[in-house]
Amino acid sequence: MESVSTKLLILLFILNHYYLLATPSAVHSISPIPNEALPTKSGYLEVNSTTKSAMFYTFYEAKQSNLPLSETPILIWLQGGPGCSSMLGNFYELGPWRVVSSQGQNVEKLALEPNPGSWNRLFGLVFIDNPIGTGFSIATTTEEIPKNQHAVSKHLFKAIKAFISLDPLFKTRPIYVTGESYAGKYVPAIGYYILKRNAGLPKPSRVNLVGVAIGNGLIDPITQVATHATRAYFSGLVNEKQKTLLEKLQDEAIGLATIGNWSEATDARSKVLNLLQNMTGLATLYDFRRSIPYEEDLVTNYLSSVEVKKALGANVSTVFEVCSDTVGALLHEDLMKSVKYMVEFLVKRTKVLLYQGQFDLRVGVVSAEAWMKEMKWDEIQKFLDADRKVWKVKGKLAGYVQKWGSLSHTIVSNAGHLVPADQAVNSQAMIEDWVLDRGLFANKGIADHLNPSYNWKQVI
Ligand SMILES: *[C@@H]1O[C@H](CO)[C@@H](O)[C@H](O)[C@H]1NC(C)=O
Ligand SMILES: *[C@@H]1O[C@H](CO)[C@@H](O)[C@H](O)[C@H]1NC(C)=O
Ligand SMILES: *[C@@H]1O[C@H](CO)[C@@H](O)[C@H](O)[C@H]1NC(C)=O
Ligand SMILES: *[C@@H]1O[C@H](CO)[C@@H](O)[C@H](O)[C@H]1NC(C)=O
Repeated sequence: MESVSTKLLILLFILNHYYLLATPSAVHSISPIPNEALPTKSGYLEVNSTTKSAMFYTFYEAKQSNLPLSETPILIWLQGGPGCSSMLGNFYELGPWRVVSSQGQNVEKLALEPNPGSWNRLFGLVFIDNPIGTGFSIATTTEEIPKNQHAVSKHLFKAIKAFISLDPLFKTRPIYVTGESYAGKYVPAIGYYILKRNAGLPKPSRVNLVGVAIGNGLIDPITQVATHATRAYFSGLVNEKQKTLLEKLQDEAIGLATIGNWSEATDARSKVLNLLQNMTGLATLYDFRRSIPYEEDLVTNYLSSVEVKKALGANVSTVFEVCSDTVGALLHEDLMKSVKYMVEFLVKRTKVLLYQGQFDLRVGVVSAEAWMKEMKWDEIQKFLDADRKVWKVKGKLAGYVQKWGSLSHTIVSNAGHLVPADQAVNSQAMIEDWVLDRGLFANKGIADHLNPSYNWKQVI
């Protein structure tokens, strides 16, 4: 008798909790996308005609470009991870409309609100879910999901070409590839791949790449992982003893990467970050001022709505995850591998912008400067000797800019890892001035060889 009632209680308990677990969306009320917030174009770009694997994209045309459309730059945005969806950039950071939450009666209301700092004010803006298997992108088979940057670039090149072919006007428009965090690997890799492929293509078939911009990017991980202890110590977050412990773990990660034990090296880097997290008790290492982590769930929950998926032209049966564990695991071995040589290749042929939010402890300012000063580029000493200038937007301190020739470096004040989420308007000012060579990004006597129309001849 007793055991029966206990079983019944357990059953009731399970049912009750099953109900709670099974209906998480019931606590959200999701407003549809207003017409004015719909992408100009969106859908799928095929990367393999046999398997039909395809990348999902959303494109927002420039709102008030003062150039003819055929000359208006297009920015491509790639999220990091590895395996995180560019819809995070779209709906939480730099897109024209962002998800906001408000509390109703027992319901969290999710809706879109215009972003005052959207990056498509003067430029077309494309978000691509890269690589396949990420966000709404389709990987027909798991085997097709890339395991290295070359494989990522091959797919991405196909997707970019497919995008350009959507509209005859896209062909002539200058293209800038931008991205954040682990996209510090993707952005140089696709830039490098484009320039190499362009060399073998007739002019009308080339991708008109003019520049790359990387925010808080993981580019030369061995150099970057060595900076966490120092950064935390001089930020007053750990003591000398803890600094020594962190340095020991950093050395392990460096050692493993140096002997080519890549997967173990990635795990060892995670250990450094976990220990730093544990020592500091911070809400997130992505921004040491925050009392709660960044709210990526807003985007996941918003994109769980069938109406929203339909409006975006995404497959309604895809269960949207902001970051894919499958893709993350497949690129685990790649994580610690350097793409510094690709940035060195690009800086001689295109414009390069590196920017960091000042309060990021994962891939921050010190971590970027550590590898930048080791760059193999005959102008690097001139860059390092250039002044770091105080950068203001509408009379207020926005950060610092250092520039020499084709290389620009920006430190964004009052921002963490997700710069456009934290400083929308200033990040917009940065990207506009950099693309248009204005303000602190103006060219003073830029060398002829940096003129993009000259570049193609140099590429091998
Ligand atoms: C398409 O995918 C198939 C199966 O994975 C592969 O064999 C083929 O090489 C791919 N084609 C291209 C053009 O990448
Ligand atoms: C590299 O990793 C493998 C697999 O974990 C391990 O067996 C091996 O001992 C490592 N090599 C060195 C030199 O540490
Ligand atoms: C750090 O790790 C220790 C040992 O696992 C644990 O007891 C402690 O609660 C952790 N501290 C924080 C702030 O997470
Ligand atoms: C949508 O996704 C489902 C599940 O992955 C798949 O079976 C279906 O073929 C897809 N539909 C289209 C139109 O691609």
